[in-house]
Amino acid sequence: ADAILVAPASADFLARLTQGRADDLLSAICLASDVPLAMAPAMNTRMWQNAATQQNARTLLARGVLMLGPDEGEQACGETGAGRLQAPEVLLAGLAELFQSGVLSGKTVMVTAGPTREAVDAVRYLSNHSSGKMGFSVAEAAVEAGARVILVCGPVGLSTPDHLQRLNVVTAQEMFDTVMAHIQGVDIFIATAAVADYRPVEVATGKTKKKAERIQLELEPTPDILAEVKARFPRLFCVGFAAETESLDEYAQDKLQRKGVEMIAANWVGPAATDTEGAFGSDTNALRLFWKDGESELPLASKDKLARQLILQIAQLEEMQGQHTIDDDKVVSLPA
Ligand code: PMT
Repeated sequence: ADAILVAPASADFLARLTQGRADDLLSAICLASDVPLAMAPAMNTRMWQNAATQQNARTLLARGVLMLGPDEGEQACGETGAGRLQAPEVLLAGLAELFQSGVLSGKTVMVTAGPTREAVDAVRYLSNHSSGKMGFSVAEAAVEAGARVILVCGPVGLSTPDHLQRLNVVTAQEMFDTVMAHIQGVDIFIATAAVADYRPVEVATGKTKKKAERIQLELEPTPDILAEVKARFPRLFCVGFAAETESLDEYAQDKLQRKGVEMIAANWVGPAATDTEGAFGSDTNALRLFWKDGESELPLASKDKLARQLILQIAQLEEMQGQHTIDDDKVVSLPA
């Protein structure tokens, strides 16, 4: 076998797998195998929410086991909530993520990543907690999927993944200028960067001296890179991220409409991120994807895994929509 999918994976089986048991055929096979493992949890919602099951699921995720679902909804036992087995076609699409290769071959993908820094004076700046991990995982997944990748990143402490072009920037304006300078020929633009929305109107040339009284900082908006890319190149397939501390779905849908992009990947940040450590800085994340005619959920997983799933969804949607590159010389064929 190239992979093992356990569907349905009961609470008991997840516990057995976590423990490394081998006293029945299925757990022995899983323990003795070195192919990728995928679990499709299905159980009563309270069993799924139980701290023991949640801990087991996290342990398995950390060991690289792919978790497909569970879905939410009505259950066979009469209760409602998370614990339903994902539909077969969703499971299949999730499993295909393990084997994706070449889904973006021939495409050029630009990814923005990390934070930007907006200088206040010679030694201080405004910024945020983005580590760049999500964006780097997305860029690597696009490389794995066969794309030529341009990674435009703010100041992060991450080493450059193989086989891509990295362009370093510091400010939102520099990110904007760099994106615009290299966008020609790009087929898919994925904006994972946490770009500062405001910058100081005036930047002191020296270090501002401490005084006893309050001071005020006047801020002006930075250019919205994603919105501007979409406005200038309406046929470019654009994916935005939404980092939210409340009303995740509502704000994500709003960004989808307002920025006119093909997809928004929404994630929780800050104290509202109860299921995850929050997207900022951590190695794991969970995403809710929204596009014009649909939505889907990518549950808690390592950022690398999530990025692969995201790239697969983007590739499928892009092919369905038959988008064209913005480079007129290079025509992308419409799907049959
Ligand atoms: O870097 P990590 O530590 O791994 O964390 C990942 C992440 C939380 C930064 C990432 O998953 C994420 O959510 N990125 C987007 C964060 C954000 O700034 O969201 P936003 O809602 O403010 O912006 C919406 C979209 O517009 C984003 O795609 C953003 O890149 C883009 N934008 C925003 C402002 C601006 N001036 N220009 C933009 O292009």
